[in-house]
Amino acid sequence: MKMPSVLTGFGLALFLLFPCSLFAAGKGLAAGQKLYDSRCARCHGLNAKGNLDSAKSLGLDPLKLDLTREVVLKKSRKDLEKLVMGGHGRMPKQEALSLDQVRSILKYLQTLQKAYVMK
Ligand code: HEC
Repeated sequence: MKMPSVLTGFGLALFLLFPCSLFAAGKGLAAGQKLYDSRCARCHGLNAKGNLDSAKSLGLDPLKLDLTREVVLKKSRKDLEKLVMGGHGRMPKQEALSLDQVRSILKYLQTLQKAYVMK
């Protein structure tokens, strides 16, 4: 009679842990979205396709602000982290953001890229 209770305990632990980890992942994305919307969308657009007005005022080709382009998709996670933390061309470096925050932004950015790029 020992085995079933051990199994039940194990099952119960999984039953409790699984939703918790899903919840944590969801929370990470929500944090990333909040940061993206407040720190990046002004130039790159809420949908990561680029903000036309910003491009105009920066005197840039709007395509440069589109983060769903192939060149951006091809960059490694490490390169993107470095690029966002350190700035890139006309893009100001994001000194106020911690590496963890940048990581959660990039995670959220991936969901935008997936939503807009056809396979
Ligand atoms: C003030 C406007 C501005 C803000 C705010 C901004 N960016 Fe940018 N970003 C730019 C510009 C301009 C470029 C293009 C730079 C170039 O090519 O000279 C760029 C380029 C990039 C690139 C590289 C694109 C490529 O062509 O390889 C990434 C990735 C990126 N930004 C991510 C972000 C993220 C993430 C945030 C928020 C933390 C952010 N940016 C905030 C203006 C901005």
